Amino acid sequence: MKTVLITGASSGYGRETALYFHSQGWNVIATMRTPRAGVLPESDRLRVIELDVTKPETITAAFEAAGPVDVLVNNAGVPSIGVFEGTPMARVRDVFETNTFGVMATTQAVLPQFRERGSGVVVNVTSSVVLGHMPLSAVYKASKMAIEGFTASLSLELAPFGVQAKTVEPGACLTTNFAATATNDASVDELVPAPYAPWAKKTMDAFTGQDLFTKESDVAETVWHAVHDTTGQLRFPAGPDAVWLAQAK
Ligand SMILES: NC(=O)c1ccc[n+]([C@@H]2O[C@H](COP(=O)([O-])OP(=O)(O)OC[C@H]3O[C@@H](n4cnc5c(N)ncnc54)[C@H](OP(=O)(O)O)[C@@H]3O)[C@@H](O)[C@H]2O)c1
Repeated sequence: MKTVLITGASSGYGRETALYFHSQGWNVIATMRTPRAGVLPESDRLRVIELDVTKPETITAAFEAAGPVDVLVNNAGVPSIGVFEGTPMARVRDVFETNTFGVMATTQAVLPQFRERGSGVVVNVTSSVVLGHMPLSAVYKASKMAIEGFTASLSLELAPFGVQAKTVEPGACLTTNFAATATNDASVDELVPAPYAPWAKKTMDAFTGQDLFTKESDVAETVWHAVHDTTGQLRFPAGPDAVWLAQAK
């Protein structure tokens, strides 16, 4: 039976991906920075383990506890909506710690077992922001574009060992915790300096009023498809808005 380890499985796309792989008969290691009871169903094929991608000791401990893993899904991520001029560099670094360095650190932790076994898949969840030019997302987009480049190059150095790396690029979803985290963030006002405010409001209204959105299940199914794809495809848009952006490129 195959095993998938997923980061950020406490909610949203990560939780749905955990449920989907479980429903397909896989062993699931659902990792969370704060493990919580009741988030996922009880099952002898589903284990919840602590893993904060910004804390190397939790990454090491999680892989030790997990045992052999066939697929790593780097899903954990944080939003950052705001005008770059108003975004403190400390916040820029925080976003990169999770979205970029956290993905790299977790990937590095799984690679020895994948390379030694001659198999394994790393799926890095980025975003449809990498597919289009989206305002108010300079820092977030940079953190995710970095992972697109990272994954493309990594996939080449892993190929001789039979190990794969790919990205899943989800579109926007207003029903995960992500939008709430972004919009409830007390510092959003600070992140939009006054001269930018009218434009920023218009931009946000246009975003929330768009026609196409992604569902959690779109992402779970696309991660599943990416894991099983054997064509060498590197990037997998997930959800109708992401697919539309990819086709419009
Ligand atoms: N929703 C969207 O519109 C959208 C669009 C494109 C891409 N994405 C990407 O999709 C992924 C999942 O987002 P989502 O929409 O499902 O949002 P979500 O519901 O907020 O889920 C994000 C997950 O990441 C976890 N997380 C945050 N920081 C972490 C850390 N340092 N270590 C470990 N876990 C951490 C969160 O854990 P806690 O519960 O502890 O906070 C949560 O489980 C993210 O990578 C995001 O960038 C989202």
